[in-house]
Amino acid sequence: MEREALLELARETASNAYCPYSRFHVGTALVAGDQVFVGVNIESTSYGLTLCAERSAISAAITAQAGPITQIAIACIDVPPQAPLHERMPCGACRQWLADLAPNATIYIDGTERDFQISDLLPFAFSL
Ligand code: THU
Repeated sequence: MEREALLELARETASNAYCPYSRFHVGTALVAGDQVFVGVNIESTSYGLTLCAERSAISAAITAQAGPITQIAIACIDVPPQAPLHERMPCGACRQWLADLAPNATIYIDGTERDFQISDLLPFAFSL
C-alpha cells in the first residue's frame, strides 16, 4: 500500500481513539498479508491499563492470522506540525511489540518523511 494512503488511514482512525484522560488521539494503520488493520489508543480509569494504538492494531492483525506485518503507519493527530519528532514516536512497550510481532515492517510516522525499521527504534532488542 502507498505510504501516504496508509498514513491518511491512520490519521482518520485516530479520531476514534478513546482518550478522555489525555485527549491525545493516536491512530495506527498496518498492512498484514494482503489485509489492512487499524487501531486506536484506548484509555482506562486505571491509567496504567491504557492500550496504545500500535498494540491495538497489531492485536487485530494477530487475531485475524493475517500474515506478516509489512508496513505500519502511526499518527498522533493532536501534535502540532512544528512539534519535535519525539512527540509522535511509539512508546517503549510498543517498540517491544513491534520487535516481537512486526520485525520486518517499515514504520511510517506521520509528520516526518523518514521511514524506520524497528532496529532503528529499538536496537539490541530483547528476544527469546
Ligand atoms: N499512546 C499511544 O497510543 N501510542 C504510543 O506509542 C504512545 C502513547 C497513547 C497512550 C495514551 O492514551 C496517550 O497516547 C498519551 O500517552
